[in-house]
Order: sequence, then structure tokens, then C-alpha cells
Amino acid sequence: MAAPLATADSPVQTIVAVDDQPEVLALLGEVFRARGRAYQPFSDGEAAIAYVAAHQSEVVLVVLDLELGAGKRGGIELLGDLRAAHPDLPVIILTGNATVDAAVRAVKAGATDFLVKDMYLEDTLDVSVEKIERMLAHIRERRRLEGENVALRNANRALREEADRRLQFVAEAASMQEIREKIERISQLSRPVLVLGERGTGKELVAAAIHRLSPRANGPFITINCAAVTETLLESELFGHEQGAFTGATKRKEGKFELADGGTMFLDEVGNMTPEFQTKILRVLEYQRFERVAGSKTISVDVRVVAATNEDMEKAMAEGRFRRDLYDRLAFEVIRLPPLRTRREDIPALAAHFLAQFRAEVPHVSARVISAEALARLMRYDFPGNVRELKNVVERAAYGCDRPALDERAVERALPPEPPSKTPAGGSRAARGVEGNLPPEFSDDPALPLPERVAAFERALVKDALLRAKNKQREAAELLGMSYDQFRHLYRKYGMKDGGLA
Ligand SMILES: Nc1ncnc2c1ncn2[C@@H]1O[C@H](COP(=O)(O)OP(=O)(O)OP(=O)(O)O)[C@@H](O)[C@H]1O
Ligand SMILES: [Mg+2]
Repeated sequence: MAAPLATADSPVQTIVAVDDQPEVLALLGEVFRARGRAYQPFSDGEAAIAYVAAHQSEVVLVVLDLELGAGKRGGIELLGDLRAAHPDLPVIILTGNATVDAAVRAVKAGATDFLVKDMYLEDTLDVSVEKIERMLAHIRERRRLEGENVALRNANRALREEADRRLQFVAEAASMQEIREKIERISQLSRPVLVLGERGTGKELVAAAIHRLSPRANGPFITINCAAVTETLLESELFGHEQGAFTGATKRKEGKFELADGGTMFLDEVGNMTPEFQTKILRVLEYQRFERVAGSKTISVDVRVVAATNEDMEKAMAEGRFRRDLYDRLAFEVIRLPPLRTRREDIPALAAHFLAQFRAEVPHVSARVISAEALARLMRYDFPGNVRELKNVVERAAYGCDRPALDERAVERALPPEPPSKTPAGGSRAARGVEGNLPPEFSDDPALPLPERVAAFERALVKDALLRAKNKQREAAELLGMSYDQFRHLYRKYGMKDGGLA
């Protein structure tokens, strides 16, 4: 069966043969031409190697004689050169006398096949070439599949980047890239993970990322804040209760561990559990089994636990507030999120990310980019509230900025007031509030949603203006640079009593 002379992935298929016997070369030529191949005979090995090097894309097979005459390099040596330069090129070694030793040497040197020049050479060669052709087809198929693997890998990467975008996990700093890799690795393994870090460093985001990247991604992601519920409630929240378990338990209720079956359970603020409760959690972690409150049936679940805390766990354990065995259980893998002030390289990307997010959520935001000065200002700030604080500052600045580029002033206004000692006399802080200062009664709570914080700020401004205007509303409106009607609107909005300063 003659293969076509040229195919798409191999334009010309040439077989190179090296032998010092012209009649062997002639015979080989007959066999190969009959198979529709181009044929290049050589009596000199070095010339053949040079030819192969110059026609790499065309040469599909090399046939080498074992002995090429006195003073010449033999087939095995030539094979060594060929293997080094063209690892995948099939090479057949021919020999005049079949010795096991020669065959072993040839195969060890990487020969694809080993043939004896006997009266059957024509037939054995045919069989061998047939075999090699199948092998070549196999190699081509493997290459194609490898190409597909590359395509698959690329597609995977694209999918991952897409998932990253959805997860919105910004990681520019080297320390954060390591954490991203750790998340990818640990997500594949159904073991507990403990996420540690100051408030606002992204612990919950990491927990969600672990779930989303895990084989459980299609299962539930259930969160419970251990610090936000009382002991009794926490137990029924996590394990559920039977009807009549306690006053008010009118119906049977499934606990969060049951709801999380097949998925991930995020135990937030895990450092705040009482010792008794820690014992119960330890049992669930250990056996994936529990009973509902007032229930007798044991419920088995398959839940992956991710826990987080901003507590100093070593201290909590030393003071006996946290069970060491529970810690060891939870800390199969520990992810420590560094505070933002130690990875300032993340600030530009995070700020851009939060601005884009804010623009997508809130209509009519003018700022599209962040000016270099604004960014420089952000880079100088310490962010005790970490990433969450950065997010709030960017949102507040964007909200208060009517230019296409977020400027330094907008950022400055969005940053919390510095303690007075740090403020240089007559410094930049002077240009704030009604007459240059923040309203004295205004205290910002970064934990509140933005509209509430903005409202609190607005209310404080109105109150402050009234105070300064000695309760004369027209004057207060003037101080704020607004019309009396506008002022009255705010006055009513914030439910201020006549006499103003209630
Ligand atoms: N690497 C990051 N990339 C993008 N957004 C982030 C990143 N880290 C944190 N955030 C965002 O910052 C905010 C705070 O993050 P998160 O709630 O996960 O912090 P936390 O450590 O759980 O805080 P707390 O200790 O107060 O509970 C969230 O809006 C989160 O999406
Ligand atoms: Mg959190």
C-alpha cells in the first residue's frame, strides 16, 4: 500500500539510506520508490547526516548500514548523531551478519528496527517499512493530539482566567501570587483549610475561591459567622433541630452542615467559638457525622470546611480559648493573607478593579480611570482596614468625583481624617467640610454600605452648617453652597427638628 508522496504535514516524504554496497542501495531504492517515497542514497555517512540536517522536514526515515568500511564511522555512531539532532526520526539499522550483540547495540543506540541483509531483505524491509509507517502515523496522531493538548491547555487557561475574573481575585504581589497558586492546589483536595488574616484582607473571598475552583463547585457554598450567633442558636444553625427541640422550634429544621452536603462550609470568625462548641465542631470534622438538636438520628454528610479568623490563634491556644486539636484539624492547610500595607504593589490593580466594579454597579459615575497623583496618594496610605477599606475609599472617591479621571483631591476627601498630630498646620486637610474641616460629629463607619455612609456624611454636613449658622437655615444653605429649597429637602430628609440640632 503506497502512501501518498506528499501530505499536508509532510510536504515531501524522503527516505535516506547509507550503505557502502551499491547493490544494497539499489535494492532499497526499488523498495522505497515502489512505496511512493522519494529516495536519497548515500555511500558516505557524514554526507547523509548533512543531508538530513538540511532537509529535516522532508526526511521521514533513515536506513543505516552497521559497517560502512574501514576508517568510516559506523551505523551506531551515525545513529547517535541522528538521535541527538532528530529524536523522533525513525532509523533502521542494516547488518551483514545477524549477531545478538549487534542487534542489542543498535536498539540501545535508539534504532527503530534492526534488519539483516540476507536473501529475504526485500521482504523484511517491506515489513519493517510497513511497521514504521504505522509508527509514523502513530507519531503524527500523537503530535496532533499534543497539539490538541496545547489547544486544551489554552482553553483551560482561558477558562481559568474567566473564572478568575468572575472570582475577581486580584493578585499582583509575589506573596499573593503564591497564595493564588496555593488556592488552586488546595482546592482540588477535600481537606480543611484555615484562612488567617487581619480584617478586610480577603479571607471570605479566598474561601469562595477555594470552593469555586474545587470539584465541589457545583455543590453549595454555605457560610456561617460563628461570632454572630449565640451558642444555642449556633448549634441549631449548624446541626439543625427536631421539632420541639426548644421553645420556638415549631418545625424540624435542617442545619447548615446538612445544607452544605456535597459542597463547602465556610466557618467565619471561627476563633470566637466556646470550648464546648469547638468539641462539637471537631467531631463533625473528624467523622462528618452529627445529630440534630434533640434528634437521635445520626446524619452523615460530605462537607469540605474552610475556616477563617482574624484572631491570633497561637495566643488563643496559649490562653486556652481554642482547642489545639481543633486547630490542627482545621489547619490541614493554612493560608495567611498579608495585610495590604505589606503588599502595596496590589493597590493599583485593586483600585482599578474596584473602580470598574463600582462603575458597573452605579450609573453615572464620571471617573473612568485613576490619575497618577490619586494613585500615588493611595500608595502612601496605610489601609488599617486593608482591601475592604481600599474598596470603600475608591468607591467614595469615585462617587464624589465629576471628572473622567479620579483625582488626588477626590481620594484625599475619601480617606479618613488623619489624627490631628499628623496633620501639618494649614496642610491639605484644611480644604474639607463646610469651612475646611470635616463636620466634628461625623464619624465614618467603613463597615456600613456606601449609601448609608454617604447619608451619614451628608447629615453631618447639614448639622454642622446649622450649628455654624446659629440655626438660621438660609445661612446654613449658603454655607453649604446650595439653594434654600435644596437645603430644606435635606433638612426634612434627615428628620431634623425645628431648632435643628436635635
Ligand atoms: N485579592 C482581592 N482581589 C479583589 N478583591 C478583593 C481581594 N481581597 C479582598 N477583596 C475584596 O475586599 C473586600 C473584603 O474582603 P473579605 O470580605 O473577603 O475580607 P475578610 O478578610 O473576610 O474581612 P473580615 O475579616 O472583615 O471578615 C471584599 O469586597 C472582597 O471582595
Ligand atoms: Mg470575612
